[in-house]
Amino acid sequence: MDILAERLKNLPAYLFMQLRDKIRKAQADGVDVISLAIGDPDEPTPAYIVETLREAALDPANHQYPTDEHKGMLVFREAVARWYGRRYGVTLDPETEVMALSGVKEGIHHFIMATINPGDIVLITNPGYPAYRSNALIAGAEAYDVPLLEKNGFLPAFEDIPERVCRKAKAFFLNYPNNPTGACADNKFFTRLVAWAKERQILLLNDNPYSEIVFPGNRRQSLLQVPGVKDIGVEFNSLSKAYNMTGWRIGMAAGSDKIIQAMCRFNENVTSGVFNAIQLAGVKAMDEGDPDIERMLAIYHRRREMVLRAFAEMGIIVKAGDGTFYLWIPVPAPLSSLEFTTKLLEDAGILVTPGTAYGRYGEGYFRLSLTVPDDRLEQALERIRRTIKRGW
Ligand SMILES: Cc1ncc(COP(=O)(O)O)c(C=O)c1O
Repeated sequence: MDILAERLKNLPAYLFMQLRDKIRKAQADGVDVISLAIGDPDEPTPAYIVETLREAALDPANHQYPTDEHKGMLVFREAVARWYGRRYGVTLDPETEVMALSGVKEGIHHFIMATINPGDIVLITNPGYPAYRSNALIAGAEAYDVPLLEKNGFLPAFEDIPERVCRKAKAFFLNYPNNPTGACADNKFFTRLVAWAKERQILLLNDNPYSEIVFPGNRRQSLLQVPGVKDIGVEFNSLSKAYNMTGWRIGMAAGSDKIIQAMCRFNENVTSGVFNAIQLAGVKAMDEGDPDIERMLAIYHRRREMVLRAFAEMGIIVKAGDGTFYLWIPVPAPLSSLEFTTKLLEDAGILVTPGTAYGRYGEGYFRLSLTVPDDRLEQALERIRRTIKRGW
């Protein structure tokens, strides 16, 4: 009996599961693998956030189903509104324009299931986070690739999308600061995009879990800062990357009340919400964690400089993006992305992600994540240097 549903058969294997398998295999062969492939902060969650969880977990009131399960506790939604107000000058109604998510990844699925019909087109950026494409396919929709090219600063040239595609497109997924390129979008770009999308009645979703990881000299930006965006747009954000909380599974959707309402309607049928104690710890993070964001940013900045220096010494010029803890680095000729990353793993025990893992427009690049301790990063750079020096 073939137990696999047709909808799963068309899905590519999930990238990070494949990477984890590669790491395990190399480790089983006795290799001291250093993985620079996964964007999972290495520093712990700040202690006061953990302590808030501990206290909340001891309170029996939090042992029952989460409060307001499909949209999250009001205190959490109010904290999101305060956070967006303080950090972005954005006004949100916590009753209707905010919901809690078990992380952005869950939100991507809920958004698609709540808004997309089979046969619709979902516009996705390429290279891009793989969950956009897989969820579009799960919903029976078509994912249309909008290339992110270096010559355009890794921003999509959305005005070039053919009108016949736009007519079938129901939603456009963006992600700035961008994984994997590190590019940031500015208010001018978002303003043009919102006008374009409104004219064509295309929903906009800015997936923004890296919003706080923007390096000095650049401004943090939210899609929600554009006037009138709430007619068609939402932003997803997450405590995962800003507060070193990837394992906690807590994030938020904010923006259009109609989209939030649709997502809640889907949500109430498939989940029972986020553990109250985690939401309360999230409130603590959003209210008191600003200094930790700056502390982490200084760490990533230092590591980023270390990598840029090392690659410059190897003769590889990296044009670093303005945000995220990723560097999007050109692969030395004549190797393809996959050939180079395979070579690094086999020769040096270093795992980085081939650009093509994020789509065909990622060919020619690899992604390096700065989420490893400085001493391991230094070791990794030394091993990469030796491999490149040896040549192929
Ligand atoms: C672009 C992008 N969106 C979403 C996520 C998932 O975030 P969360 O931990 O909030 O589910 C990631 C994680 O790497 C990401 O890079």
